[in-house]
Amino acid sequence: STPVTLSSIRALKARRERIAMLTTYDAIFAEAASQAGVEVLLIGDTLGMVLQGHDSTLPVTVEDIAYHTACVRRGNKGAMIVADLPFISYATVEQALGNARRLMQSGAHMVKLEGGTWVTETVRRLTENGVPVCVHMGMTPQSVNVFGGFKVQGRDPARAKELKDAALKVEAAGAAMIVLECVPWDLAEEITRAAGVPVIGIGAGPGTDGQVLVLHDMLGLPLRGFIPSFVRNFLTGTSIQAALRAYVEAVKDNSYPAPKRKDPQLRTLGTVNDV
Ligand code: KIV
Ligand code: NA
Repeated sequence: STPVTLSSIRALKARRERIAMLTTYDAIFAEAASQAGVEVLLIGDTLGMVLQGHDSTLPVTVEDIAYHTACVRRGNKGAMIVADLPFISYATVEQALGNARRLMQSGAHMVKLEGGTWVTETVRRLTENGVPVCVHMGMTPQSVNVFGGFKVQGRDPARAKELKDAALKVEAAGAAMIVLECVPWDLAEEITRAAGVPVIGIGAGPGTDGQVLVLHDMLGLPLRGFIPSFVRNFLTGTSIQAALRAYVEAVKDNSYPAPKRKDPQLRTLGTVNDV
């Protein structure tokens, strides 16, 4: 099959076909996930937690992400590869350009960074220099210490408006994709409708253009006993390949996340840790 590109991802949004994105960090899972139909492979800085055993994503370096991106690139069968710019690796435009070069030269087709309006100029300059950018908004784990924990973002009207405005501003600056993490479902749907670019959700309900999950979470492997409540364990059969196919299928038919759980989840979503 032909490789997934930014234009094919955009075409999926236009056709209202859901986009399946998943973290992978090595060659063999990249091969299995891309063969199962996952369109976007993310080398997430969650590798600091699931692979390295840290308590947050803050210790992850550009070299860590570059190494795992190179591993994923070797196994990938045609998916689009997105690599995270880790903690304080894009504080200035110059720093962002140098670190994005490292990740693109390791095999990424796009970089992802966390932020809001403040990353607008960085997004513009990266895009001008040939680097498509995905902006990760909402509950952005690199800011866990600013938020005072892994807390849902955008429940109050002011923060909701800030997130929507930021989405439109980064899109105007050239952002190629948006990831929305742990925001109320209605807000995620509203931003998805307003945005021209694909919006991928995690813990953000069924109204986005696609879903992303952490590989180990969807295979039912809790880290220190913890799996966020929005995660579903797709390893219900006897093979990892079947679990990956089940994930793609559930994203495509929008049976993950289940729309029926919308209201109960919204009411109980206090922090990621207590849902
Ligand atoms: O690092 C990561 O895995 C991520 C996803 C959870 C979106 O950023
Ligand atoms: Na990340």
